[in-house]
Amino acid sequence: RKDGKPGRKHALAGPRSLTWTMDPHILIDAFRDAKLIGQDEGLRLVERPTRQGHGWAVTVDLPATRKAADVIQRRDALASALAVDEVQLLIERVRGSGGHAGRVALWVADADPYDTPPARTPLVDAARWDVWRPVPFGRDARDRPVTLPLVWTSLLVGAIPRQGKTFATRLAAAGMILDPHTRLYVADFKAGKDWDAAQTVAHRFLSGDEPDHVLTLRDWLTELVGEVQSRYRRMRTLDDATCPESKITPTMARDTALDMPITALVIDEVQVPLEDRTPITAGGRKLTAGEHLGELLTWLAKKAPAAGVILILATQRPDSKTIPSGLRAVLGSRFALRVMDWRDSNIILGEQMNTRGHDASRLLAAHKGVGILRPDGEADTPGDELATTVRTYYMAGQDWRTICQRGHALREAEGTLTGHATGNEPVPRIDHATAATAISTRSDTAAGTAGLPEPLASVADYLAEDLHPEHGRTFIPTAELLDALNAEPTAFARHMSDHGCTPVRRRIPDDDGTPRQVRGYRTTDIQTAIHTHQPDHSDDRETDDDEE
Ligand SMILES: Nc1ncnc2c1ncn2[C@@H]1O[C@H](COP(=O)(O)OP(=O)(O)OP(=O)(O)O)[C@@H](O)[C@H]1O
Ligand SMILES: [Mg+2]
Repeated sequence: RKDGKPGRKHALAGPRSLTWTMDPHILIDAFRDAKLIGQDEGLRLVERPTRQGHGWAVTVDLPATRKAADVIQRRDALASALAVDEVQLLIERVRGSGGHAGRVALWVADADPYDTPPARTPLVDAARWDVWRPVPFGRDARDRPVTLPLVWTSLLVGAIPRQGKTFATRLAAAGMILDPHTRLYVADFKAGKDWDAAQTVAHRFLSGDEPDHVLTLRDWLTELVGEVQSRYRRMRTLDDATCPESKITPTMARDTALDMPITALVIDEVQVPLEDRTPITAGGRKLTAGEHLGELLTWLAKKAPAAGVILILATQRPDSKTIPSGLRAVLGSRFALRVMDWRDSNIILGEQMNTRGHDASRLLAAHKGVGILRPDGEADTPGDELATTVRTYYMAGQDWRTICQRGHALREAEGTLTGHATGNEPVPRIDHATAATAISTRSDTAAGTAGLPEPLASVADYLAEDLHPEHGRTFIPTAELLDALNAEPTAFARHMSDHGCTPVRRRIPDDDGTPRQVRGYRTTDIQTAIHTHQPDHSDDRETDDDEE
C-alpha cells in the first residue's frame, strides 16, 4: 500500500469496540472475520448490549453447529476483529439452566482493565479467617471477586521472576495465618525478607539456599510424612460420627485434643531444593537430595491433603526437569503468572490449556500480579470457567506484617502458638526409615522402570502403586496421563499402542456425579506391557531395591 493511499474503506470507520454495541452487524462481521462463523451464518442476540462495570456486555447464540468453547479458544482472533486488545475482551460460555454449549457471554472493557491500581486484600480488615472458607484471592477483569480454596488441595504457583509469585503465595498463606487453628511450615529458598514476618506465627521456619537448608527441608518433609501416616492411623480409630470418611473435617481440625490442625507447608522458590545435587542415601538407595525431596513432596501432595496437610509451592522454573511430572499432576490448584512461552504455561496449568484459550505467556509484563488461576474442582470461578485470568489482591509489606501480628495474637489467645513462633522450634520428629518405606512403593517402581522404553517408563513411574494388582486402580483416563507426563496426545497414543495399550471408553462419574464417557487405558493392559518388557520384573517388591 502506498503512503497516503487509504486501505480498505471501513478501516476508517473508527474504533469498532464502541460501535459494535450500537450496531450488532459489526459484531457479526467480527465473528465472520475471525472465522468463528461462516460467511452466510449469523448470531442471535440473547440479551441486548448493556453497560456493566467499565465495559459493555452482550450475550449471543452461535449457529447450531458452532461451539462457545471454540470462541473462547480463539479469543485473540475475535479481539483483533473487534479492534480491542485481548486483555479487554472476556468470553464466557453461559452455563446452567439459561445456558448451552453455543451461548456466549461477551464483555468488552472500555480500557485495559489492569491499568488501574490493584485492590487491597480484604483480609487486612478481617479480625480472623476460617481456613475452610476459600480465601479472597483477587479480581477478574470485570472486577468480580475470585477466591481460592485452601483445604483438601495443594497449590502450585509459577512464573518468571518479579511477576508476583511471592505476593500470590502470601495471600494463600494469609488465609492460614488468620486462622489460629492452622499450623505453618515456611521455607523461603530465596533467602530474602519476603517471609520474615511469618516467623511470629510459623511452627517451623527457614530462610536460606544452602545445602544445609535443603537437608532441613528434608527433615521437615520426613516429619510430615510420619505425621500424615499417624493421622490416617488415628482417623481409622475414630467413630463414624466424628470422622465419616478418611478425611479431615472442620471439627476434627479444630479439636486441639486430636492434634490434627490444617497444616500448610509453604515453599517459595521450590526449584532450589528440587535441583540440589547433594548426594544422600534414603532407604538404601543413593540419590540426590533434590530427587528425594521430589519423591517426598509427591507423596505428600498425593496423600496429605485429605489428612489436612497441604502444600503451597512457588517456582521460577516450572519445567518438568525441576518439578517432577508426578508431583505437578497431584497439585490440584495452579496459578500461572507471566511465563516465557506457552509450553511453560501448560506445564503449570495443565496439558493443552493454551489450546483452550489459557496461555500465561500472553500476559503482559506490565501487569504485575495478573495470572491464570486453574482452581481445584470445587472452586467457584466467575462464569464457571475451567480457568480465570485474575489479578491478585495487593498486600503491601505493611499489611502483610499486620496480618502476621494478628495471627500471632490470635494463636496466643487460643493457646495454639507452637514451635518457631514461640522461640523454641522442636527438633523434627524424624524417622527416615518409615518415610522411605512409605514412599518406597513409588521408588520401587522407579527402580523397576529402569529398563522400560518411553512412554511406558514414565507411565509406570507416575502410576506407581496405582498399578498394584490388588489395591491399585483399574482404569486411568488418557487426559490424566497426558497432563501428568506433559505428553503430546498423538505421539503418546501411537507409542502406547506400539506397546499393545489401546484406549477404551468408560463411563465414570463427573465431579457432580453425572456419568461421562472418558477415554483411557486399562491398568491390566499397562501391567502386561510392563511385564512384556521386563520378564524378570516380579511382583515381589522387596527385591526391587537391589536391582538399582
Ligand atoms: N497483585 C499485584 N498488584 C500489583 N503489583 C503487584 C501485585 N503482586 C505483585 N506485585 C508487584 O510485583 C512485584 C514482584 O512481586 P513478587 O515479589 O511477588 O514477585 P516474584 O515473582 O516472587 O519475584 P521473584 O522471582 O523476584 O521472587 C512486587 O514488588 C509488587 O510490587
Ligand atoms: Mg518471590
